Amino acid sequence: MLILCLAIVVTALVPPLSAQSCWRDTVCTGPAQASFSGPWDRYNYSPPSRRVKPARILSSSNDYISGFPSPAILSGNGSVLVFDFAQEVGGIVTVAYSAQGHGSLGLAFTESKNWTGEWSDDSNGSFGPDGALYANITSANGSYTMPDAKLRGGFRYLSLFLLTNSSLTLDVFDITLEISFQPTWSNLRAYGGYFYSSDETLNRIWYAGAYTLQTNAISPGTGREYPLVSEGWMNDANLGSSASSVFIDGSKRDRTIWSGDLGVAVPSILVSTGDDVGVRNTLQVQFDFQKSTGEFPMAGPPLNFYGSDPYHMSTMIAYHDYILQTNDMEFLNTTWDKYKLAMTFVIQKIDSTGLFYCTGANDWGRSSQGGHNSEANMLMYRTLVSGSSLATWAGQPDLSVNWDAVAETLKTAVNSPKNNWDASFGAFKDSDVDASIHPQDGNSLALLYNGTLTNRTASISAKLMTNWNDIGAAAPELPNNICGFTSSLEVMGHLAAKQSTRALNLIRLSWGWYLNNPLGTNSSAIEGYAADGSFGYRATTGYSNDLSYTSHAHGWSTGPVSALINYVVGITLTSPGGKTWALKPQFGDLDSAQGGFTTPLGMFSASWSLMANNSGLTLSYDMPMESSGLVSVPVPAGSKAIVILDSVNVAYSYDHSIQAIELWVGGGAHELFISYD
Ligand SMILES: *[C@@H]1O[C@H](CO)[C@@H](O)[C@H](O)[C@H]1NC(C)=O
Ligand SMILES: *[C@@H]1O[C@H](CO)[C@@H](O)[C@H](O)[C@H]1NC(C)=O
Ligand SMILES: *[C@@H]1O[C@H](CO)[C@@H](O)[C@H](O)[C@H]1NC(C)=O
Ligand SMILES: *[C@@H]1O[C@H](CO)[C@@H](O)[C@H](O)[C@H]1NC(C)=O
Ligand SMILES: *[C@@H]1O[C@H](CO)[C@@H](O)[C@H](O)[C@H]1NC(C)=O
Ligand SMILES: *[C@@H]1O[C@H](CO)[C@@H](O)[C@H](O)[C@H]1NC(C)=O
Ligand SMILES: *[C@@H]1O[C@H](CO)[C@@H](O)[C@H](O)[C@H]1NC(C)=O
Ligand SMILES: *[C@@H]1O[C@H](CO)[C@@H](O)[C@H](O)[C@H]1NC(C)=O
Ligand SMILES: *[C@@H]1O[C@H](CO)[C@@H](O)[C@H](O)[C@H]1NC(C)=O
Ligand SMILES: *[C@@H]1O[C@H](CO)[C@@H](O)[C@H](O)[C@H]1NC(C)=O
Ligand SMILES: *[C@@H]1O[C@H](CO)[C@@H](O)[C@H](O)[C@H]1NC(C)=O
Repeated sequence: MLILCLAIVVTALVPPLSAQSCWRDTVCTGPAQASFSGPWDRYNYSPPSRRVKPARILSSSNDYISGFPSPAILSGNGSVLVFDFAQEVGGIVTVAYSAQGHGSLGLAFTESKNWTGEWSDDSNGSFGPDGALYANITSANGSYTMPDAKLRGGFRYLSLFLLTNSSLTLDVFDITLEISFQPTWSNLRAYGGYFYSSDETLNRIWYAGAYTLQTNAISPGTGREYPLVSEGWMNDANLGSSASSVFIDGSKRDRTIWSGDLGVAVPSILVSTGDDVGVRNTLQVQFDFQKSTGEFPMAGPPLNFYGSDPYHMSTMIAYHDYILQTNDMEFLNTTWDKYKLAMTFVIQKIDSTGLFYCTGANDWGRSSQGGHNSEANMLMYRTLVSGSSLATWAGQPDLSVNWDAVAETLKTAVNSPKNNWDASFGAFKDSDVDASIHPQDGNSLALLYNGTLTNRTASISAKLMTNWNDIGAAAPELPNNICGFTSSLEVMGHLAAKQSTRALNLIRLSWGWYLNNPLGTNSSAIEGYAADGSFGYRATTGYSNDLSYTSHAHGWSTGPVSALINYVVGITLTSPGGKTWALKPQFGDLDSAQGGFTTPLGMFSASWSLMANNSGLTLSYDMPMESSGLVSVPVPAGSKAIVILDSVNVAYSYDHSIQAIELWVGGGAHELFISYD
């Protein structure tokens, strides 16, 4: 009964969704409702309405005072109340008040609870706090709405404070935030994908990643200004697009399209929120600002940074992932010539050694880049292999054969102990000439992109683990830092190497640490942090001296989202749109997991559950009728398996090299029951 009553109350409080609930004058083009609904909906952080209010009030010393709405009275110069939205949000705030006296009302914003008070955390690039917005209090009753240009893209806490030379008392009776992200969606909860497992922490992490990506989907007119403003912050720059929504790096900052970040963000967007249109718009900006040499921007307008081979190649890989997911042949057609130019731009950097020689040495933040670097070579390998698939889809089989051949030469070269492979250590050196470190990025990508020999993957995966401390995996190539981007690559790398429990443990260790941190947003994926647990990602490396500059909602840190779908639930697409697919679950230490996503062809989902007596599992799946796929399920070698498909015993083959049973199946909804002794 109690549950029933609560449900009724909640429904009554939520304003009806209407066309007006998209951002400002944006036309609503998003989905009306979620593709999948079920018990996992309770993990979805996205609010049911675009207009939200703080959940509670804290004192200036961050002590809990009360819920909100409830009386919130500021009195006298320097008085502060902190309003907690209880999760990451972003947009335009309106404060309604009744006042006695005169002076100014200050508004300051922060993602972390560590920096509440009269100064906002840092987003403007000065590596010092952004300051505050001020409203003149002139009337007895009034309201203040922050100017659009002062939009705050990512925060959890809003500090309101008074400055007065005489006396001022302010009764804050309403605060409303109009959410600016995911601008074309009237229903912010209408995800195309879902995830649900027997592990509560993983469920929360998956939805925190999905929500992070949503907060990174913005109207391209609300980017961060550049050159950096000299006072406070400004988020009214155009990001080089006339579309309605694009993907930026982080919701607070930089609010700019950074192409390398797409390498992790795009696969995760495609299987979670399912905002394919936003991905396409973002890739279109890359093509629109491509140089005549073929080079893609590292960061789009207004930053307009170039000179990064790794980011250039990440764009090309993300482009492949988008086409594979959507079968958007129209986009392939209109961009194919530019894509080929982009390929030429990097292929010509492969020298007589067969290795890629990186000259565009800007990268994600690693201490150095350039030359025959391992990370850059693994990106080049994947660019060629994914380019080969694209060439096939574009009807150019000759090109496909050509790029495959270049890829295999490069793979042989990078794996040679004379070049990048460190045989005595059992992992890749940073480059052919630098054995001082064995990088997290290059080694993770070697696993993720099949860039090494099968008999080396176990050693690489084990060596990566030696960088772990008790809160995450520190990157040797950016000492004393734990980076959400490279850790995402590592998670996927362990899964590609079939080290599933290790991958899940890293997700729990690093993303779990942040999500359970009392100073965090409790709802998003942080850009990175220092190995000692302070939030100052890169603050110790001379890049910034301000711990508060770190972004707490950064798409490049959302690797667990695609990893849990593609490897743990185990669904991947093997031809554009998913006419063919593979279902290869990895159990790790879980009892059960399920999940799915949507493509223009239809909905893809699977659910597995292990038998408690450890003698088999059920695996159900529901794929588009006109599709077919390869099911591959780990079964201990030497055991005799019985496979029952929809109550009928079926034949299967056993692949000894991966210790898995395999069978081809058609689309539709089916259940496999697999038992072994
Ligand atoms: C008001 O408080 C601020 C700090 O909150 C302080 O800097 C300022 O000097 C105070 N002004 C007066 C008139 O006391
Ligand atoms: C507040 O009032 C002062 C004095 O009238 C004025 O100079 C200032 O521009 C006003 N600030 C805002 C934000 O309106
Ligand atoms: C101020 O607004 C409050 C809340 O809407 C209302 O109760 C009160 O009557 C208003 N006071 C004046 C002076 O308008
Ligand atoms: C307080 O007085 C100082 C000095 O006249 C002035 O600069 C400041 O703007 C005043 N503050 C407020 C909040 O009115
Ligand atoms: C950022 O904002 C602060 C506070 O207004 C200001 O002191 C600083 O100069 C600004 N930095 C830049 C680079 O504009
Ligand atoms: C794009 O499609 C048109 C019409 O089908 C075709 O003529 C053209 O060759 C295609 N271009 C590419 C690059 O595939
Ligand atoms: C990995 O690459 C080799 C060629 O080097 C290829 O034969 C193999 O099929 C690839 N494995 C996967 C899983 O793609
Ligand atoms: C690893 O596999 C390669 C072929 O893929 C083979 O040439 C090599 O001898 C193997 N190395 C070991 C140590 O087994
Ligand atoms: C996060 O939010 C959940 C749900 O409100 C709460 O139970 C949990 O204590 C919060 N965790 C932190 C670290 O704030
Ligand atoms: C909170 O801020 C203090 C003071 O700047 C700093 O020492 C501490 O490391 C910060 N905590 C985190 C988690 O960043
Ligand atoms: C294990 O449990 C399943 C269902 O719970 C049952 O069908 C099966 O016979 C059991 N196997 C063994 C070996 O006990």
